[in-house]
Amino acid sequence: MQKSHGNDYQLEILDNGVVSFRHQQTGEILHGSVGPEKEAEQLYIQASGLVHWPHSVATVFDIGMGCGAQLLALLDFLSSDSPCNQLDIFSFDLEKNGLKAALEAQAHFASVRRHCDFLARACQENHFTWTMSNGKSLRWTFVEGDFLQTILAPKIANPELKADFIFYDFFSPASHPWLWTHDLFSKLFQYAVPQTRLVTYSSATCVKAALAAAGWYVGTTIPSGKKAHSILAAGSLARLENPLNSSFLGTFERSHKPFCEAESESSKRTIREQLAEHPQFKSNQ
Ligand SMILES: C[S@@+](CC[C@H](N)C(=O)[O-])C[C@H]1O[C@@H](n2cnc3c(N)ncnc32)[C@H](O)[C@@H]1O
Repeated sequence: MQKSHGNDYQLEILDNGVVSFRHQQTGEILHGSVGPEKEAEQLYIQASGLVHWPHSVATVFDIGMGCGAQLLALLDFLSSDSPCNQLDIFSFDLEKNGLKAALEAQAHFASVRRHCDFLARACQENHFTWTMSNGKSLRWTFVEGDFLQTILAPKIANPELKADFIFYDFFSPASHPWLWTHDLFSKLFQYAVPQTRLVTYSSATCVKAALAAAGWYVGTTIPSGKKAHSILAAGSLARLENPLNSSFLGTFERSHKPFCEAESESSKRTIREQLAEHPQFKSNQ
């Protein structure tokens, strides 16, 4: 079974007092132990580098929209005095149950209360332009359906489309391995330019390997939850502050889980071959 329509979320107060959502089908707590607002701000807005984006426009992929934590953080970012005054956001998900759960739980989340009018409209429409009170604007597109089928839909609609930032926030590679494969990261690489940055909370070796084999340059950034670090990948080595070095090839070889469970035998061979040839590891001996 691959897809998981009908995702349900239950509000959960963690031992540290943080309020988050538990995904009922997998039992996974969204946003680790730091909670949705902090993780979205620290990892996806700050560590991605969006906060330092010097241009007036940015295109952002919000992959695994869920309860909308990244989307809300992007609305907060637009409220700031950054030179960026227009965001083009593509949110990918099977459905909008998470957004509805966030709206229902607004008493617990200041960010939801700040942007409840936007969320209410997003529950009703899949594509609209939203103007903030400071005059900045965002164009929002909801790409609905199974990511395996929809990943290239925006590109089919606009072959020139490139993403400046990609927030990759699906359930874990352990529970949803089919969403962390070399094939998907290769398709995502079609949206990359040298400046593109992709951030995910995962720190898994199999994710780093699949990304690198798909053409991404791969590094690390601040931890999320209990992980030692998160992954920051980019379209060029110059866009990484902490790139993996050639010792990653040894880590990959020694790993007890070098590949996501969903990889085919031929993908595994491709990952091995592409890793050995990757310029990041050749130039970084
Ligand atoms: C970890 S949650 C995302 C958390 C989210 N970013 C937030 O801020 O709350 C993962 C999301 O991926 C979605 N999802 C699961 N399988 C999917 C698939 N095959 N295609 C598209 N979305 C999927 C789920 O509906 C869920 O909303």
